[in-house]
Parts: sequence; structure tokens; C-alpha cells
Amino acid sequence: MKILLTGARGLLGSEISLLADHLILKKTKSNLRISQITGVSSGKHEGFLTADITTENGIEKICSADWDTIIHTAAWRSPDQCEKDKAGAFRINSWATEQLASEAAKRKAKMFHISTDYVFSGTNPPYKENDKPSPVNYYGETKLMGEKAVLKLCENPIILRVPLLYGMAAGLQKSDLLYGTLKALDSGKPWPMEDSIVRYPTYTGDVAKAIFFLLKKNASRIFHFSGQCKTSRYRITATFAEIFSISMKNIVRLEKAPETEARRPNDSHLAMGKILSMGFPPPMPFVERLKLLKGEIEKES
Ligand SMILES: NC(=O)c1ccc[n+]([C@@H]2O[C@H](COP(=O)([O-])OP(=O)(O)OC[C@H]3O[C@@H](n4cnc5c(N)ncnc54)[C@H](OP(=O)(O)O)[C@@H]3O)[C@@H](O)[C@H]2O)c1
Repeated sequence: MKILLTGARGLLGSEISLLADHLILKKTKSNLRISQITGVSSGKHEGFLTADITTENGIEKICSADWDTIIHTAAWRSPDQCEKDKAGAFRINSWATEQLASEAAKRKAKMFHISTDYVFSGTNPPYKENDKPSPVNYYGETKLMGEKAVLKLCENPIILRVPLLYGMAAGLQKSDLLYGTLKALDSGKPWPMEDSIVRYPTYTGDVAKAIFFLLKKNASRIFHFSGQCKTSRYRITATFAEIFSISMKNIVRLEKAPETEARRPNDSHLAMGKILSMGFPPPMPFVERLKLLKGEIEKES
């Protein structure tokens, strides 16, 4: 398998790269034999294929590269940024996804596309893979358009929807959840944290494993993957405070989420029975994972 990975320097892409390198070294004897992985970056970085996938030229570079499997993680994932710059959000989350799906179809390559729980409205959780999407913001709309293009153009693609991610493979600062929470606790000034929107923090290391599990199974269509801990930004902050022994005194609990550029679904919990029924193990609870990552986080903070 020759993999092309978009967003290879991002929060999730870095984790996928790490695991792929490990699998290449291990020369696994299973039917998942990875011989190379080419990471794509929009900037110039040693060891990466430079391609801005929002341009014709960037797409051409990807079309000229040698791959038979594409894992597409590159996206704009900030709902507020997408709401503010709809043209930009459409170009990367929908248009570029369609171009890549089209190229994958042309060369009969496997397309693995990463999507989001924000394709759902958040009013009727938990959501199964075949539930009807109904996004409440433009980010969700653009990701849904990307999904539709992939399903229409590719034979047997995989779409994996994930919720709020955290992880350390790309460094602490790339993980909004980890870095943002520590910054809030250390800020020394009143810091509002909302306690109403339901979150299921999901570890990128588990998502990377789920991706290679699905590829190994030669799965197709839509799958959901989610952490199992039901929480909120405020409660996540309280968990951090306890594990890192930091006071919560400057954290101001907001009962209602403040107005933001983009609306957020209230509870877009993804049911992940489908992948579990295939034998993938349930992810470690958030608190346990955070305790394991504590040393690594402290080193970088
Ligand atoms: N993070 C979350 O909480 C979350 C939640 C649900 C779903 N997701 C989905 O998961 C996927 C991965 O998200 P992530 O958290 O890893 O995002 P991320 O850390 O923001 O990484 C996204 C990557 O996309 C690349 N990219 C952006 N514009 C590009 C362009 N014009 N050309 C080429 N590459 C470009 C960037 O690459 P460069 O660094 O090279 O510019 C960046 O590293 C996305 O599809 C997202 O929708 C994420």
C-alpha cells in the first residue's frame, strides 16, 4: 500500500504518520502492508510533498504523485473561521475533497476521508452512521458536501466521522483542547468556560489505530469513532485542574454557551457500535488517557 496523506502536519495527520511509519518498520505480515507514506503539506517542509490543495497546481502535484491509497485529513476545522470565510471553507473542505475523490476514482485508489460529528444537528443523539445529517453551521455543511462527493465518485471509500480531537503527535500547541485548557487555567485572569455543549474528547492515537484497522478490514462506507466520556469544556477544565494540580479559581462557569460566529450542535454524540462490532476495542477513558499523557504535556508546557 502506497499512502498519500493530506494534512500530514496537522493534529490528526501527524498521529497517522507516526503510526504508518511504525507499521512500515514492523513490516506487518497481515494484509495491511504499507510500503510508503507521502505526507502533504501546504508549506515547504523537508520530507513532505508541498501542495496547496485549494489550487489547481496543488491538485496536479497530487495527481502526479505515486499512491494507491489516500487518507484525506486536510481541512479547515474551525467552525467560526468557516462561517467568516465561506468561500475559503468551501474551497478546502468541499472542492478540494471532490478533486481528490475524483483522482482516487480515476486511478482506482482507496479513498479514506475524515469527517466530523458536526454534520449532525445535535438535537437527537446518539447518531448512527445512516442517520440523516443536518448541519447547523457552514463547517458542517462543507464537510457534508465533501462526504457526498466522496460517496458519489469513489468505489468503496471509507468516511470516518470523529468529534473533538486531542493528542500530542503534532506537539502540544496544535491540540486546541490540551493547550487551550492549560492556557485558560494558567492565565491568572477570569476565564469563561461553558458547561452546556456536550463533548466527547477523542484521542488521535485511537483514531489513527481505527483508520488502519478499517483499511486492514478493507471496509467501506461510513463509520463513526468517538471517545466514551460525556463531558463539557468546563468539566474538561476541572479534570485538567485535578490531574495537573492547578487551581480552578480563575475559571468562570457559564451555564449557557456564549454567542459565537458559528452555531454549535448541542450534543452530536456519535454511536460507534459499528466499528466495535467489527472487533475494534473501545477507547481508554479520557481521564486515564490524560494521566498517561501528563508527563509529555508537562514537558512541552
Ligand atoms: N480537531 C478536531 O477537533 C476535529 C473534530 C472533528 C473532525 N475533525 C476533522 O479531522 C480532520 C483533521 O483535523 P485536524 O484536527 O488534524 O486539523 P488541523 O490540525 O488543523 O490540520 C489540518 C491540516 O490541513 C492542512 N491544510 C489546510 N489548508 C491546506 C491547503 N490549502 N493545502 C494543503 N493542506 C492544507 C494543514 O496543513 P499544513 O500544516 O501543511 O498547512 C493542516 O496541517 C479534518 O478533516 C477535520 O475536519 C477534527
